[in-house]
Amino acid sequence: VTKSQFIKDLPKVELHMHLEGSLEPELMIEIAKRNNVEIPFTSAEQIREASVFTSLQSFLDLYYLGHSVFKTRQDFYDLIWAYFKRVSTGNLRHTEIFFEAQEHVNRGVKLEDIVLGLHDACVQAKKEYGITCGLILTLLRHFPPENMMDLLKQAVPLKEYIVGIGMSSSEAGCPPSLYVDIFNFAREQGWHVTSHAGEIGPPEYVRDSIELLKIERCDHGIGARTRPDIVKLLADKEIGVTMCPISNVLLKVTESIPYSPIRQYLDANVKMCFNSDDPSYFGSNYIDENYAAVEKEMGLSVREWVKIVQDAIDMSWAEDDVRAKLQ
Ligand code: HPA
Ligand code: ZN
Repeated sequence: VTKSQFIKDLPKVELHMHLEGSLEPELMIEIAKRNNVEIPFTSAEQIREASVFTSLQSFLDLYYLGHSVFKTRQDFYDLIWAYFKRVSTGNLRHTEIFFEAQEHVNRGVKLEDIVLGLHDACVQAKKEYGITCGLILTLLRHFPPENMMDLLKQAVPLKEYIVGIGMSSSEAGCPPSLYVDIFNFAREQGWHVTSHAGEIGPPEYVRDSIELLKIERCDHGIGARTRPDIVKLLADKEIGVTMCPISNVLLKVTESIPYSPIRQYLDANVKMCFNSDDPSYFGSNYIDENYAAVEKEMGLSVREWVKIVQDAIDMSWAEDDVRAKLQ
């Protein structure tokens, strides 16, 4: 087989994909219409034209506008099902998905409708496509910590449907030290924990997320690259980074894929995997396209690719029976 076919055929695990970031423009228009939600677009084409970004924040502004169309259990089912259907054409085996209930619950949607709508689709995806899925309730830094804690408390009765807690939105002005109580509570509930750190934030946010929040993996994590001691901390503590190469380039976080610290982290023995982040907003580039982009720009060795696929399994929160099948 050719190298590109080899990359395509690798059994993949995705650990960094925001559910609302997989909202394709056509579905945004359709759901807005059926829910009578006003959005400043009348066609999918207009949304695609608006999806050109100068920074993380310029993306987040459009992205959270997209969140506003969701209301019902069916909406969330339809959204996650569209993702499963799309990735089923590649060799995705297991996925752990960030869902941003905090935005929806703060607008009056019931947490239970979101979680159960998503769970139903996960059960169906396992049956129909053989894809296993974990749901990660993701806290948003643009809301205050008290609002995060409220949401976590509401989520406790739904614990069995949620594999872990994440945290995203912009790091600007939001150091990890603000969230110690939140993460302590989440870990006390038995949830796994991860956080976006070192996307646009300084290296110290990566270190503090490890030391204060006790994250088990680090989303993005590329911001540590100027501090060899913090890169070493990632390696020594076996905190893997969930990198999103196409996202980083399109949000102007890194200049190019080789410029992002993929090579540096591989050489420093930091576990890593590649992910799509917000595939629909980033040109409908899903996990396969991210793997292909890294190969095209960097040409990793077969041995390195095999290691990355294994890292993704190791970093996942799959139960033992699922993990055994992924091996
Ligand atoms: N960073 C922070 N928050 C996000 C991102 C991201 O890349 N994507 C979706 N929410
Ligand atoms: Zn992300």
